[in-house]
Amino acid sequence: MISKIVPADLKHIAEAAKAIQRGELVSFPTETVYGLGGDATDDRAVAAIYAAKGRPTFNPLIVHVGSLPAAAELGEFSSDGVKLARKFWPGPLTLVVPRRKQCPLSLLVSAGLDSVALRVPAHPIAQALLAIGNRPLAGPSANPSGRISPTTAQHVEEGLGDKVAMILDGGPCQIGVESTVVSLLDGKPALLRPGGITVREIEAELGRAIEIAPSVGDAETGLHGPGRLLSHYAPERPVRLNAEDAREGEALLAFGPNVPPARIMLNLSAAGNLNEAAANLFAMLRALDRRDVTGIAVMPIPAEGLGIAINDRLMRAAAPR
Ligand code: TXA
Ligand code: MG
Repeated sequence: MISKIVPADLKHIAEAAKAIQRGELVSFPTETVYGLGGDATDDRAVAAIYAAKGRPTFNPLIVHVGSLPAAAELGEFSSDGVKLARKFWPGPLTLVVPRRKQCPLSLLVSAGLDSVALRVPAHPIAQALLAIGNRPLAGPSANPSGRISPTTAQHVEEGLGDKVAMILDGGPCQIGVESTVVSLLDGKPALLRPGGITVREIEAELGRAIEIAPSVGDAETGLHGPGRLLSHYAPERPVRLNAEDAREGEALLAFGPNVPPARIMLNLSAAGNLNEAAANLFAMLRALDRRDVTGIAVMPIPAEGLGIAINDRLMRAAAPR
């Protein structure tokens, strides 16, 4: 296999920015770990990230931006948010905040939630890529799901070399553990994942204690059973899985070329492509959750590749509540 590792000089950073604009994935160094970067406004690129990592669920991804003003265009910052951002950005802190109304980010990057995890990395190569690419970068750690996070370009190549256009080599990462994730939702700061910045430092800056989420402790996934901890978006209307057709009053969420007739229908992928289906999933679920339908009937989705995560998400949406 030809190596994807390239020196992170200006020429290669500019090439990486172009690849990202084309919807491809690029691995880039940050001060914590290497990220698997893609255009966070592009549903297809975000779907490709989930597919590359092989996660069996959609765990929402961190979005990297160059500055607090860039972050404030995407998410709503309370005074606590501004305080923490001013103190710790750029750096190993990720803030979960509500998405702004006109937020241009992919819904898939938030796994369908109304919130988004934002981070301004300190690494000069990450900063240069953000500045030259001029768009927010979705960037989970660049390792296959369940494996250790990569702190060198060689680690990335071993795990995901065939999934990326290039790997910008910035040498070993200084911090080596992922960023601290703090949720600022509902005015209650909470630690979702321990990391590069300690709880003490956060509490000192806020001037009060913060809640520690019960699942804290798993560095790779950050959260156990996001269904419990992250209150996922679920359609208001009931969801019926493995539907052969739409019953009276139902809207149909279709998949593949052979679709039964329905009054209201959206197709996740007429070509039967699972990456395309993942890219469309959350936007289409929301679009079909209309006053004039009694429920959403969903055609069977093959349980392979991204289909596993799609089915996981649909099962949660269909679960009795
Ligand atoms: O250091 C890092 O943070 C690295 C580098 C590349 O920046 N990135 C990273 O990203 O670790 P990722 O996507 O692997 O981790 C995202 C974490 C997960 O624990 C996820 O559950 C949480 O952030 N998260 C993301 N969006 C969230 C949201 N809307 N609500 C709650 N948690 C969220
Ligand atoms: Mg990770």
